[in-house]
Amino acid sequence: MTPLEYLKKTEKKRLGELFHFLTFPSVSAKSEHKKDMVACAQWLSGHLNKIGFKSKTCATGGHPVVYGEYFAGKDLPTVLYYGHYDVQPPEPLDLWKSSPFKPVIRSGYIWARGAADNKGQLFTHVKGLEAVIRSDGTLPINVKLLFEGEEEVQSEHLPTWISKNKKMLKSDIAVVSDTAMFGPTLPAVTFGLRGIAAVELYVYGPKADVHSGSFGGAIANPGNVLCQMVAKLHDKDGRVLIPGFYKGVRPVSAWERKQFKKLPYDKKKYLKNLGVPELHGEKGYSTFERCWSRPTCDVNGITSGYQGEGAKTIIPSYASCKITMRLVPNQDPNDICQKIARYFTKIAPKSVKVKVDQLGGAKAVVVPNEGPWLDAASRAIKVGFGKEPVFMKEGGSIPIVGDFKSILGVDTLLIGYCQNNDNIHSPNERFKLRDFERACKTGAALPFELAKVEA
Ligand code: BES
Ligand code: MN
Repeated sequence: MTPLEYLKKTEKKRLGELFHFLTFPSVSAKSEHKKDMVACAQWLSGHLNKIGFKSKTCATGGHPVVYGEYFAGKDLPTVLYYGHYDVQPPEPLDLWKSSPFKPVIRSGYIWARGAADNKGQLFTHVKGLEAVIRSDGTLPINVKLLFEGEEEVQSEHLPTWISKNKKMLKSDIAVVSDTAMFGPTLPAVTFGLRGIAAVELYVYGPKADVHSGSFGGAIANPGNVLCQMVAKLHDKDGRVLIPGFYKGVRPVSAWERKQFKKLPYDKKKYLKNLGVPELHGEKGYSTFERCWSRPTCDVNGITSGYQGEGAKTIIPSYASCKITMRLVPNQDPNDICQKIARYFTKIAPKSVKVKVDQLGGAKAVVVPNEGPWLDAASRAIKVGFGKEPVFMKEGGSIPIVGDFKSILGVDTLLIGYCQNNDNIHSPNERFKLRDFERACKTGAALPFELAKVEA
Protein backbone atom coordinates (compact mmCIF):
# COMPACT_ATOMS: atom_id res chain seq x y z
CA MET A 1 0.00 0.00 0.00
CA THR A 2 1.27 3.49 -0.83
CA PRO A 3 0.79 6.43 1.56
CA LEU A 4 -1.84 7.90 -0.77
CA GLU A 5 -3.73 4.61 -0.86
CA TYR A 6 -3.55 4.50 2.92
CA LEU A 7 -5.04 7.99 3.08
CA LYS A 8 -7.84 6.98 0.76
CA LYS A 9 -8.64 3.90 2.80
CA THR A 10 -8.69 5.76 6.13
CA GLU A 11 -10.62 8.88 5.19
CA LYS A 12 -13.61 8.26 7.49
CA LYS A 13 -11.47 7.36 10.46
CA ARG A 14 -9.28 10.40 9.92
CA LEU A 15 -12.25 12.72 9.91
CA GLY A 16 -13.59 11.12 13.09
CA GLU A 17 -10.24 11.77 14.78
CA LEU A 18 -10.17 15.37 13.61
CA PHE A 19 -13.70 15.85 14.93
CA HIS A 20 -12.62 14.50 18.29
CA PHE A 21 -9.70 16.96 18.31
CA LEU A 22 -12.04 19.84 17.42
CA THR A 23 -14.40 19.00 20.27
CA PHE A 24 -12.00 20.26 22.97
CA PRO A 25 -12.76 23.91 23.77
CA SER A 26 -9.06 24.75 23.87
CA VAL A 27 -9.43 28.51 24.26
CA SER A 28 -6.06 29.70 25.49
CA ALA A 29 -7.18 33.23 26.34
CA LYS A 30 -9.63 32.18 29.05
CA SER A 31 -8.58 30.76 32.40
CA GLU A 32 -11.84 28.80 32.66
CA HIS A 33 -10.52 26.56 29.86
CA LYS A 34 -7.25 25.64 31.56
CA LYS A 35 -8.40 22.05 32.09
CA ASP A 36 -9.67 21.77 28.52
CA MET A 37 -6.23 22.87 27.31
CA VAL A 38 -4.59 20.07 29.28
CA ALA A 39 -7.16 17.52 28.09
CA CYS A 40 -6.66 18.58 24.48
CA ALA A 41 -2.87 18.42 24.77
CA GLN A 42 -3.06 14.97 26.35
CA TRP A 43 -5.37 13.69 23.68
CA LEU A 44 -3.09 14.97 20.91
CA SER A 45 0.00 13.54 22.54
CA GLY A 46 -1.74 10.21 23.09
CA HIS A 47 -2.74 10.19 19.45
CA LEU A 48 0.85 10.81 18.34
CA ASN A 49 2.01 7.91 20.49
CA LYS A 50 -0.61 5.66 18.90
CA ILE A 51 0.53 6.36 15.35
CA GLY A 52 4.22 5.76 15.93
CA PHE A 53 5.70 8.91 17.46
CA LYS A 54 7.34 9.16 20.86
CA SER A 55 5.32 11.94 22.39
CA LYS A 56 4.80 13.73 25.68
CA THR A 57 3.19 16.89 26.98
CA CYS A 58 5.56 19.39 28.53
CA ALA A 59 4.89 22.02 31.19
CA THR A 60 5.82 25.57 30.13
CA GLY A 61 4.55 27.81 32.89
CA GLY A 62 1.49 28.40 30.72
CA HIS A 63 -0.47 25.94 28.63
CA PRO A 64 1.41 22.72 27.86
CA VAL A 65 3.42 22.01 24.75
CA VAL A 66 2.84 18.75 22.90
CA TYR A 67 6.13 17.33 21.68
CA GLY A 68 6.69 14.27 19.50
CA GLU A 69 9.62 12.64 17.75
CA TYR A 70 10.30 10.06 15.10
CA PHE A 71 13.89 9.06 14.60
CA ALA A 72 14.40 7.44 11.21
CA GLY A 73 18.14 7.53 10.62
CA LYS A 74 21.39 9.28 11.44
CA ASP A 75 22.11 10.89 8.10
CA LEU A 76 18.61 12.01 7.24
CA PRO A 77 17.44 15.61 7.40
CA THR A 78 15.47 16.57 10.49
CA VAL A 79 12.25 18.50 10.07
CA LEU A 80 10.52 20.45 12.82
CA TYR A 81 6.76 20.64 12.33
CA TYR A 82 4.99 23.36 14.29
CA GLY A 83 1.32 24.08 14.87
CA HIS A 84 -0.99 25.25 17.64
CA TYR A 85 -3.84 23.41 19.31
CA ASP A 86 -5.20 26.50 21.06
CA VAL A 87 -8.02 28.44 19.45
CA GLN A 88 -9.54 31.91 19.61
CA PRO A 89 -12.60 32.47 21.82
CA PRO A 90 -15.73 31.47 19.87
CA GLU A 91 -17.84 34.50 20.86
CA PRO A 92 -20.29 35.87 19.74
CA LEU A 93 -21.97 32.48 20.10
CA ASP A 94 -25.37 33.44 18.72
CA LEU A 95 -23.88 34.05 15.28
CA TRP A 96 -22.73 30.44 14.87
CA LYS A 97 -24.93 28.30 12.63
CA SER A 98 -23.71 25.21 14.47
CA SER A 99 -22.00 24.95 17.83
CA PRO A 100 -18.28 25.93 17.67
CA PHE A 101 -17.11 22.81 19.49
CA LYS A 102 -19.49 20.37 17.82
CA PRO A 103 -17.88 19.98 14.40
CA VAL A 104 -20.17 19.17 11.47
CA ILE A 105 -19.83 18.82 7.73
CA ARG A 106 -22.07 21.14 5.75
CA SER A 107 -21.81 22.10 2.05
CA GLY A 108 -18.39 20.48 1.72
CA TYR A 109 -16.87 22.27 4.71
CA ILE A 110 -15.82 21.25 8.19
CA TRP A 111 -17.37 23.84 10.54
CA ALA A 112 -15.85 24.37 13.99
CA ARG A 113 -13.62 26.72 15.94
CA GLY A 114 -10.09 25.61 15.06
CA ALA A 115 -11.13 23.79 11.86
CA ALA A 116 -8.67 25.97 9.95
CA ASP A 117 -6.77 27.86 12.68
CA ASN A 118 -5.03 25.63 13.46
CA LYS A 119 -6.16 22.16 14.54
CA GLY A 120 -7.40 21.12 11.09
CA GLN A 121 -4.24 22.33 9.41
CA LEU A 122 -1.73 20.85 11.83
CA PHE A 123 -3.62 17.56 11.67
CA THR A 124 -2.93 17.30 7.93
CA HIS A 125 0.76 16.82 8.71
CA VAL A 126 0.07 14.36 11.51
CA LYS A 127 -2.09 12.30 9.17
CA GLY A 128 0.29 12.63 6.23
CA LEU A 129 3.19 11.39 8.35
CA GLU A 130 1.04 8.59 9.75
CA ALA A 131 0.23 7.47 6.22
CA VAL A 132 3.94 7.18 5.41
CA ILE A 133 4.79 5.37 8.64
CA ARG A 134 1.92 2.92 8.19
CA SER A 135 2.63 2.12 4.57
CA ASP A 136 6.45 2.19 4.52
CA GLY A 137 7.14 1.17 8.10
CA THR A 138 9.34 4.25 8.54
CA LEU A 139 9.85 7.87 7.47
CA PRO A 140 12.43 9.17 4.98
CA ILE A 141 13.27 12.05 7.38
CA ASN A 142 13.61 12.56 11.11
CA VAL A 143 10.61 14.35 12.51
CA LYS A 144 10.15 16.61 15.51
CA LEU A 145 6.62 17.77 16.23
CA LEU A 146 5.97 20.86 18.30
CA PHE A 147 2.35 21.79 18.93
CA GLU A 148 1.82 24.65 21.33
CA GLY A 149 -1.18 25.92 23.30
CA GLU A 150 -0.45 29.64 23.42
CA GLU A 151 -0.16 30.88 19.86
CA GLU A 152 -3.36 32.89 20.05
CA VAL A 153 -2.08 34.62 23.19
CA GLN A 154 1.30 35.59 21.75
CA SER A 155 3.22 32.40 22.59
CA GLU A 156 4.27 33.86 25.90
CA HIS A 157 6.13 30.86 27.30
CA LEU A 158 7.32 29.15 24.15
CA PRO A 159 10.56 31.04 23.42
CA THR A 160 11.91 30.17 26.89
CA TRP A 161 10.86 26.54 26.45
CA ILE A 162 12.56 26.41 23.08
CA SER A 163 15.75 27.95 24.48
CA LYS A 164 15.76 25.35 27.25
CA ASN A 165 15.25 22.52 24.77
CA LYS A 166 17.50 23.73 22.01
CA LYS A 167 19.36 20.44 21.69
CA MET A 168 16.21 18.36 21.54
CA LEU A 169 14.76 20.64 18.86
CA LYS A 170 17.84 20.74 16.63
CA SER A 171 16.62 20.51 13.05
CA ASP A 172 17.34 21.53 9.47
CA ILE A 173 14.09 23.21 8.53
CA ALA A 174 10.71 24.03 10.11
CA VAL A 175 7.31 23.47 8.49
CA VAL A 176 4.23 25.45 9.49
CA SER A 177 0.75 25.24 7.99
CA ASP A 178 -1.04 28.13 9.69
CA THR A 179 -1.59 30.46 6.75
CA ALA A 180 -4.01 30.66 3.83
CA MET A 181 -3.88 29.71 0.17
CA PHE A 182 -4.05 32.64 -2.20
CA GLY A 183 -7.44 31.56 -3.51
CA PRO A 184 -9.78 28.57 -3.77
CA THR A 185 -7.68 26.90 -6.44
CA LEU A 186 -4.36 28.61 -5.82
CA PRO A 187 -2.12 27.02 -3.20
CA ALA A 188 0.58 29.31 -1.87
CA VAL A 189 3.95 29.47 -0.24
CA THR A 190 4.17 32.41 2.13
CA PHE A 191 7.50 34.20 2.43
CA GLY A 192 6.70 36.82 5.02
CA LEU A 193 4.48 37.51 8.01
CA ARG A 194 3.84 40.75 9.79
CA GLY A 195 4.73 41.10 13.44
CA ILE A 196 2.48 42.52 16.11
CA ALA A 197 2.60 44.91 19.07
CA ALA A 198 -0.26 45.21 21.52
CA VAL A 199 -1.28 47.85 24.06
CA GLU A 200 -4.31 48.73 26.14
CA LEU A 201 -5.22 52.34 26.66
CA TYR A 202 -7.21 53.48 29.71
CA VAL A 203 -8.66 56.94 30.14
CA TYR A 204 -9.89 57.76 33.65
CA GLY A 205 -12.33 60.55 34.52
CA PRO A 206 -14.56 60.97 37.59
CA LYS A 207 -14.15 58.37 40.35
CA ALA A 208 -17.59 56.94 39.49
CA ASP A 209 -20.10 57.37 36.64
CA VAL A 210 -21.86 60.68 37.29
CA HIS A 211 -25.08 62.34 36.06
CA SER A 212 -24.41 63.86 32.66
CA GLY A 213 -26.94 66.62 33.31
CA SER A 214 -25.38 67.69 36.58
CA PHE A 215 -21.74 67.47 35.52
CA GLY A 216 -21.72 67.24 31.74
CA GLY A 217 -19.86 70.28 30.46
CA ALA A 218 -17.73 70.76 33.56
CA ILE A 219 -15.45 67.76 33.29
CA ALA A 220 -13.88 65.77 30.48
CA ASN A 221 -15.78 62.73 29.28
CA PRO A 222 -13.35 59.77 29.12
CA GLY A 223 -15.35 58.29 26.23
CA ASN A 224 -15.03 61.48 24.19
CA VAL A 225 -11.36 61.87 25.09
CA LEU A 226 -10.48 58.29 24.18
CA CYS A 227 -12.11 58.70 20.79
CA GLN A 228 -10.24 61.96 20.21
CA MET A 229 -6.98 60.25 21.06
CA VAL A 230 -7.73 57.30 18.80
CA ALA A 231 -8.61 59.76 16.03
CA LYS A 232 -5.07 61.11 16.30
CA LEU A 233 -3.51 57.77 15.40
CA HIS A 234 -3.78 58.35 11.62
CA ASP A 235 -3.59 61.29 9.27
CA LYS A 236 -5.99 61.73 6.36
CA ASP A 237 -3.78 59.63 4.09
CA GLY A 238 -3.92 56.66 6.42
CA ARG A 239 -0.39 57.12 7.73
CA VAL A 240 0.22 56.34 11.38
CA LEU A 241 1.05 59.49 13.37
CA ILE A 242 2.91 57.92 16.30
CA PRO A 243 6.34 59.62 16.29
CA GLY A 244 9.06 57.24 15.11
CA PHE A 245 6.58 54.57 14.03
CA TYR A 246 8.12 54.18 10.59
CA LYS A 247 11.73 54.41 11.74
CA GLY A 248 13.80 51.79 9.89
CA VAL A 249 10.86 50.65 7.76
CA ARG A 250 12.13 49.97 4.27
CA PRO A 251 10.17 50.89 1.18
CA VAL A 252 8.33 48.04 -0.52
CA SER A 253 10.93 46.54 -2.85
CA ALA A 254 10.47 46.55 -6.58
CA TRP A 255 10.72 42.77 -6.58
CA GLU A 256 7.93 42.47 -4.04
CA ARG A 257 5.71 44.95 -5.89
CA LYS A 258 6.15 42.96 -9.06
CA GLN A 259 5.47 39.67 -7.29
CA PHE A 260 2.23 40.96 -5.74
CA LYS A 261 1.07 42.45 -9.02
CA LYS A 262 1.22 39.00 -10.58
CA LEU A 263 -1.45 37.73 -8.20
CA PRO A 264 -5.05 37.85 -9.38
CA TYR A 265 -7.01 40.63 -7.69
CA ASP A 266 -10.64 41.54 -8.24
CA LYS A 267 -11.59 44.60 -6.21
CA LYS A 268 -15.32 44.02 -6.57
CA LYS A 269 -15.04 40.49 -5.23
CA TYR A 270 -12.77 41.68 -2.47
CA LEU A 271 -15.34 44.25 -1.32
CA LYS A 272 -18.19 41.79 -1.57
CA ASN A 273 -16.37 39.13 0.38
CA LEU A 274 -15.93 41.56 3.28
CA GLY A 275 -19.26 43.34 2.95
CA VAL A 276 -17.67 46.80 2.82
CA PRO A 277 -18.71 49.60 0.44
CA GLU A 278 -15.17 50.85 -0.28
CA LEU A 279 -11.53 50.22 0.56
CA HIS A 280 -9.58 52.33 2.99
CA GLY A 281 -5.84 52.37 3.61
CA GLU A 282 -2.50 54.06 3.37
CA LYS A 283 -2.21 56.24 0.32
CA GLY A 284 0.19 55.10 -2.38
CA TYR A 285 -0.02 51.37 -1.73
CA SER A 286 -1.95 48.51 -3.29
CA THR A 287 -4.21 46.32 -1.20
CA PHE A 288 -1.66 43.51 -0.91
CA GLU A 289 1.11 45.96 -0.07
CA ARG A 290 -1.08 47.49 2.64
CA CYS A 291 -1.91 44.10 4.15
CA TRP A 292 1.43 42.35 3.83
CA SER A 293 4.24 44.88 3.66
CA ARG A 294 3.11 47.99 5.51
CA PRO A 295 2.64 48.44 9.25
CA THR A 296 -0.77 49.32 10.68
CA CYS A 297 -2.42 50.46 13.89
CA ASP A 298 -5.92 49.26 14.75
CA VAL A 299 -8.42 49.32 17.57
CA ASN A 300 -9.52 45.75 18.36
CA GLY A 301 -12.06 46.65 21.01
CA ILE A 302 -13.27 49.83 22.63
CA THR A 303 -15.53 50.41 25.57
CA SER A 304 -16.91 53.08 27.83
CA GLY A 305 -20.03 53.78 29.86
CA TYR A 306 -23.38 52.14 29.41
CA GLN A 307 -24.10 49.71 26.57
CA GLY A 308 -27.29 48.03 27.84
CA GLU A 309 -30.86 48.48 26.74
CA GLY A 310 -32.35 51.97 26.65
CA ALA A 311 -30.71 55.21 27.76
CA LYS A 312 -28.53 56.05 30.71
CA THR A 313 -27.43 59.65 31.05
CA ILE A 314 -23.97 59.52 32.56
CA ILE A 315 -20.45 60.76 32.13
CA PRO A 316 -18.62 57.44 32.28
CA SER A 317 -15.92 57.05 34.84
CA TYR A 318 -13.49 55.55 32.35
CA ALA A 319 -12.94 54.40 28.80
CA SER A 320 -10.56 51.81 27.46
CA CYS A 321 -9.49 50.23 24.25
CA LYS A 322 -7.30 47.43 22.98
CA ILE A 323 -4.97 48.33 20.15
CA THR A 324 -2.67 46.19 18.06
CA MET A 325 -0.18 47.32 15.49
CA ARG A 326 0.96 45.00 12.71
CA LEU A 327 4.69 45.35 12.19
CA VAL A 328 7.11 44.91 9.35
CA PRO A 329 10.85 44.12 9.42
CA ASN A 330 13.01 46.48 11.54
CA GLN A 331 10.16 47.43 13.87
CA ASP A 332 10.60 46.13 17.39
CA PRO A 333 7.38 45.35 19.31
CA ASN A 334 8.61 46.68 22.65
CA ASP A 335 9.99 49.83 21.09
CA ILE A 336 6.71 50.41 19.23
CA CYS A 337 4.71 49.86 22.43
CA GLN A 338 6.83 52.49 24.16
CA LYS A 339 6.34 54.89 21.29
CA ILE A 340 2.56 54.67 21.33
CA ALA A 341 2.53 54.90 25.13
CA ARG A 342 4.61 58.08 24.99
CA TYR A 343 2.37 59.48 22.26
CA PHE A 344 -0.82 58.83 24.19
CA THR A 345 0.66 60.32 27.33
CA LYS A 346 1.68 63.39 25.38
CA ILE A 347 -1.64 63.99 23.63
CA ALA A 348 -3.83 63.29 26.67
CA PRO A 349 -5.55 66.41 28.02
CA LYS A 350 -4.83 67.42 31.63
CA SER A 351 -8.50 66.80 32.50
CA VAL A 352 -8.09 63.00 32.53
CA LYS A 353 -5.63 60.39 33.76
CA VAL A 354 -4.23 58.01 31.20
CA LYS A 355 -2.63 54.61 31.57
CA VAL A 356 -1.12 52.53 28.78
CA ASP A 357 -0.39 48.84 29.37
CA GLN A 358 2.36 47.67 27.06
CA LEU A 359 1.74 44.05 26.17
CA GLY A 360 4.63 43.52 23.73
CA GLY A 361 4.29 41.23 20.73
CA ALA A 362 6.33 39.61 18.02
CA LYS A 363 8.65 40.73 15.27
CA ALA A 364 7.82 40.43 11.60
CA VAL A 365 9.24 37.44 9.81
CA VAL A 366 10.82 37.08 6.42
CA VAL A 367 11.68 33.58 5.21
CA PRO A 368 13.58 32.64 2.06
CA ASN A 369 11.59 32.99 -1.15
CA GLU A 370 13.72 30.53 -3.05
CA GLY A 371 15.99 27.56 -2.51
CA PRO A 372 15.89 23.77 -2.33
CA TRP A 373 13.53 23.57 0.67
CA LEU A 374 10.97 25.75 -1.10
CA ASP A 375 11.32 23.72 -4.26
CA ALA A 376 10.64 20.59 -2.23
CA ALA A 377 7.54 22.13 -0.67
CA SER A 378 6.32 23.20 -4.10
CA ARG A 379 6.65 19.66 -5.43
CA ALA A 380 4.73 18.24 -2.46
CA ILE A 381 1.97 20.81 -2.95
CA LYS A 382 1.77 19.79 -6.58
CA VAL A 383 1.16 16.19 -5.48
CA GLY A 384 -1.70 17.19 -3.18
CA PHE A 385 -3.27 20.06 -5.09
CA GLY A 386 -2.28 19.30 -8.67
CA LYS A 387 -0.82 22.77 -8.98
CA GLU A 388 2.38 24.66 -8.24
CA PRO A 389 1.96 27.23 -5.46
CA VAL A 390 2.12 30.98 -5.95
CA PHE A 391 4.30 33.16 -3.71
CA MET A 392 2.69 35.61 -1.33
CA LYS A 393 3.02 37.20 2.09
CA GLU A 394 0.53 37.33 4.94
CA GLY A 395 -0.56 40.16 7.16
CA GLY A 396 -1.16 37.95 10.19
CA SER A 397 1.46 36.87 12.69
CA ILE A 398 2.83 33.57 13.93
CA PRO A 399 5.01 34.82 16.77
CA ILE A 400 7.31 31.82 17.16
CA VAL A 401 8.51 31.67 13.55
CA GLY A 402 10.99 34.49 14.23
CA ASP A 403 12.32 32.56 17.22
CA PHE A 404 12.90 29.46 15.11
CA LYS A 405 15.44 31.50 13.20
CA SER A 406 16.93 33.46 16.10
CA ILE A 407 17.06 30.64 18.69
CA LEU A 408 17.30 27.48 16.61
CA GLY A 409 18.84 28.92 13.46
CA VAL A 410 16.26 27.31 11.17
CA ASP A 411 14.20 28.77 8.37
CA THR A 412 10.51 27.98 8.09
CA LEU A 413 8.38 26.78 5.22
CA LEU A 414 5.00 28.48 5.50
CA ILE A 415 2.54 26.39 3.55
CA GLY A 416 -1.06 26.94 4.60
CA TYR A 417 -4.26 25.57 3.21
CA CYS A 418 -7.25 27.60 4.40
CA GLN A 419 -8.88 30.53 2.60
CA ASN A 420 -9.01 34.13 3.74
CA ASN A 421 -12.80 33.83 3.95
CA ASP A 422 -12.81 30.77 6.21
CA ASN A 423 -13.79 32.97 9.16
CA ILE A 424 -10.78 32.36 11.35
CA HIS A 425 -11.12 34.35 14.62
CA SER A 426 -14.77 34.88 13.65
CA PRO A 427 -18.07 32.99 13.98
CA ASN A 428 -18.57 30.01 11.62
CA GLU A 429 -14.94 29.09 11.14
CA ARG A 430 -14.56 26.44 8.48
CA PHE A 431 -12.10 24.42 6.43
CA LYS A 432 -12.93 22.96 3.06
CA LEU A 433 -13.09 19.18 3.34
CA ARG A 434 -11.53 18.76 -0.09
CA ASP A 435 -8.59 20.94 0.88
CA PHE A 436 -8.16 19.09 4.16
CA GLU A 437 -7.80 15.91 2.09
CA ARG A 438 -5.48 17.52 -0.44
CA ALA A 439 -3.37 18.89 2.39
CA CYS A 440 -3.10 15.43 3.95
CA LYS A 441 -1.80 14.18 0.61
CA THR A 442 0.70 17.04 0.54
CA GLY A 443 1.62 16.08 4.09
CA ALA A 444 2.35 12.53 2.95
CA ALA A 445 4.40 13.68 -0.03
CA LEU A 446 6.39 16.34 1.80
CA PRO A 447 8.73 14.02 3.77
CA PHE A 448 9.93 12.40 0.54
CA GLU A 449 10.52 15.74 -1.14
CA LEU A 450 12.32 17.15 1.90
CA ALA A 451 14.43 13.98 2.07
CA LYS A 452 15.81 14.78 -1.38
CA VAL A 453 17.19 18.13 -0.29
CA GLU A 454 20.36 17.06 1.53
CA ALA A 455 21.05 14.35 -1.04
N1 BES B 1 -3.14 31.56 11.72
C1 BES B 1 -2.99 32.86 12.28
C2 BES B 1 -2.01 33.72 11.50
C3 BES B 1 -2.56 34.12 10.17
C4 BES B 1 -3.66 34.94 10.11
C5 BES B 1 -1.99 33.69 9.03
C6 BES B 1 -4.18 35.30 8.89
C7 BES B 1 -2.51 34.05 7.81
C8 BES B 1 -3.62 34.84 7.74
C9 BES B 1 -2.53 32.74 13.71
O1 BES B 1 -3.16 31.72 14.41
C10 BES B 1 -2.92 34.01 14.40
O2 BES B 1 -4.07 34.34 14.43
N2 BES B 1 -1.98 34.71 14.99
C11 BES B 1 -2.25 35.85 15.79
C12 BES B 1 -1.06 36.07 16.65
C13 BES B 1 -1.25 37.07 17.74
C14 BES B 1 -2.34 36.70 18.68
C15 BES B 1 0.04 37.26 18.49
C16 BES B 1 -2.56 37.05 14.93
O3 BES B 1 -2.00 37.21 13.85
O4 BES B 1 -3.41 37.82 15.35
MN1 MN C 1 -5.25 32.50 14.82
